[in-house]
Amino acid sequence: MIYFDNNATTPLDERVLEAMLPFMKTMYGNPSSVHRLGRVAKSAVEIAREQIAALVDAQPLQVIFTSGGTEANNLALNSAFGRVAISAIEHPSVFEPAKRYNPEIIPVNRDGLIEPKTISDLIEKRPDFVSIMLANNETGVIQPIADIAAQLNERGIILHTDAVQAIGKIPVSFRQLGVQMLSLSGHKISAPKGSGALIVDKSVSISPLLLGGGQEQNHRSGTENVAVCVGFGKAAELAKNELDARQTRMLSLRTMLENKLAQFSKVTIFAQSALRLPNTVLFGIDGVDGELVLLKLDQRGVCVSSGSACASGEAEPSHVLLAMGIAPQQAQTAIRVSLSHQNTPAEVLELIELITPYGV
Ligand SMILES: Cc1ncc(COP(=O)(O)O)c(C=O)c1O
Repeated sequence: MIYFDNNATTPLDERVLEAMLPFMKTMYGNPSSVHRLGRVAKSAVEIAREQIAALVDAQPLQVIFTSGGTEANNLALNSAFGRVAISAIEHPSVFEPAKRYNPEIIPVNRDGLIEPKTISDLIEKRPDFVSIMLANNETGVIQPIADIAAQLNERGIILHTDAVQAIGKIPVSFRQLGVQMLSLSGHKISAPKGSGALIVDKSVSISPLLLGGGQEQNHRSGTENVAVCVGFGKAAELAKNELDARQTRMLSLRTMLENKLAQFSKVTIFAQSALRLPNTVLFGIDGVDGELVLLKLDQRGVCVSSGSACASGEAEPSHVLLAMGIAPQQAQTAIRVSLSHQNTPAEVLELIELITPYGV
């Protein structure tokens, strides 16, 4: 099998599993318990908090563990207030909880980027809370979040960024970005599914989704999922230590794939001229349904994603591509290849061979 769907999820790293196992077997204490087993669990959770903070250049106390990126985004949006604005290309886990505020939608250009002029227009509308993702899951396009934050901070506007797709692929610094909240998910960096965190600056007041025993500084009640926190921490440590090597590897594979795709006259690579994640290529073959290519590749043991979301059994064109001004028909051609550092040049060549009959 060839796995090219790493923006959807990643396999669990063996070293992460090893770190987790003791906390599923013998070290089963509740971190809130005062006895020895409790203290061992508590200290493991705190080490994980430090590892996650280190990955994103934040303080450990700024890390709130959640059950994933979806919960982190929901927690951020639950803490929104007043006039809310979100970008047109957000993940549903931002879009849906934002709906209750009837948010202003921030447009993107044909490259999937928010332009400086758009931010000045937005500021004139005096929003109180803004959510703009750092890197898009479909196109890989990276937004200039630090520049946007600088402008919003000057006016006291809160900025949340969904960095779920960015960590482990590009350097992410909570401090340098200057945002007030940042969402993370563990399973995109080879941690287990159901791990995540919201990084929060102490200037913002958090409205918890879960009330109860007051864990996570009262921001997220419930007994900590110790093994999962430990796994996320270990994966964060590995992602930080190996970032340079992983980035170089992914970028060389992406370049190889894009150079090969460029030889096909019917292929379009979406947002190609924008700054993008080193692992993501979203492309379409003129007149060929992306879903069809996905299914054909699947029959040959190759996992990719199509650019469309399956809503009520019917494939809808991606809202991200539509927001970029791509016609629905062309949006339906989208195929997403999201690489990992574990992919090989031979796998990329096999993919090219399999799509050659469509692309000539
Ligand atoms: C950009 C983005 N945000 C949030 C999420 C949700 O994260 P999780 O699957 O951990 O709930 C995803 C997952 O696909 C994502 O790509």
